Amino acid sequence: MKIFLAPMVGRTDKYFRKLVRIISPNIVLFTEMITVDSLLRGRFKEYKIKDTEHPVVVQLAGSDKKKFIQCAEIISDQGFDEINLNIGCPSSKVVKGGFGACQIESPLKVAEYVDAIKSHTKIPISIKTRLGLGYEHDLKKIEEFITQTSNAGCGTYYIHARNAILNGISTRKNRSIPKLRYDDVLKLKKIFPDIKMFINGGIEEIDQIEEMLDIYNGVMIGRKIYNNPMFLAEIENKIFQNPKVFSIEDIICEYIDELDADDARNKLYALKHLTNLYKGTRLSKKWRKYLYNLINSNEPIYNLKNFYIENYHEEKKETIC
Ligand SMILES: Cc1cc2nc3c(=O)[nH]c(=O)nc-3n(C[C@H](O)[C@H](O)[C@H](O)COP(=O)(O)O)c2cc1C
Repeated sequence: MKIFLAPMVGRTDKYFRKLVRIISPNIVLFTEMITVDSLLRGRFKEYKIKDTEHPVVVQLAGSDKKKFIQCAEIISDQGFDEINLNIGCPSSKVVKGGFGACQIESPLKVAEYVDAIKSHTKIPISIKTRLGLGYEHDLKKIEEFITQTSNAGCGTYYIHARNAILNGISTRKNRSIPKLRYDDVLKLKKIFPDIKMFINGGIEEIDQIEEMLDIYNGVMIGRKIYNNPMFLAEIENKIFQNPKVFSIEDIICEYIDELDADDARNKLYALKHLTNLYKGTRLSKKWRKYLYNLINSNEPIYNLKNFYIENYHEEKKETIC
């Protein structure tokens, strides 16, 4: 039984992953999508994965076999637990670069990347993709894609239960306009019973997670976790049977204590992902205002702790779980 944090550009950076790991020791983390060029230019050069961050999957996008091989070598040295290929991004910039969702139409090429990565490293490889392209609901293309790439050695697929529409709608709209088709993911699962298949898209409730876990090997969740990180506390309690009592104050304290001097100077990046921590509580608005003012002031990041000191008596009643 696995729960995955969906990769999200501008969101699942090292700061958000740190926050997520503090709340949830059991979730599998994903980085944001990183292009092979950006990784080779040194994007993760200084990045060392801490023991507490595992398991963490790095997501790559690209269309050059040699670069994939070079990246895979860097990634295994850094200690990532899995390489995931992004074959689902519908962004016009990404499609112009010849990668992302448009590669559903190039199964043999992607199979070559899988084969090349596998023969140069031991790190497990997986693919995140969608059900197809455009308005066509036929599964033939994705079946052919999974057949070719799994024959090349990919045994794990994360399926966003929608098509990607590559012309005419924005990346953002591509996360809501194409219809969610859970039944079609189930069809794929039945066609490929020996492949690990994880479902993604629109999963927002504990009941829904439980239902999906009866069918799939795991569930991937993106926006719900970003928009309400304390949903992870519910996942820990109800899905992983973790008996811990979570308090937002303790989470903030631990987060701040884990920041190093560089992080502390990077105030905007270190703090912006904390915005939704008090979602659904009386302190939500006050907290967002407090964070905004702190980010835009000369005060040190550690002053964040003052918020719950000031609001402690009020907030105690709001402690989650
Ligand atoms: C802001 C944002 C950025 C995203 N960036 C990526 C990405 O880098 N790689 C990727 O495979 N999917 C990306 N996605 C898609 C998510 O991984 C996920 O498939 C999608 O949001 C559906 O899951 P959800 O309904 O649980 O959010 C992004 C989604 C959002 C909202």
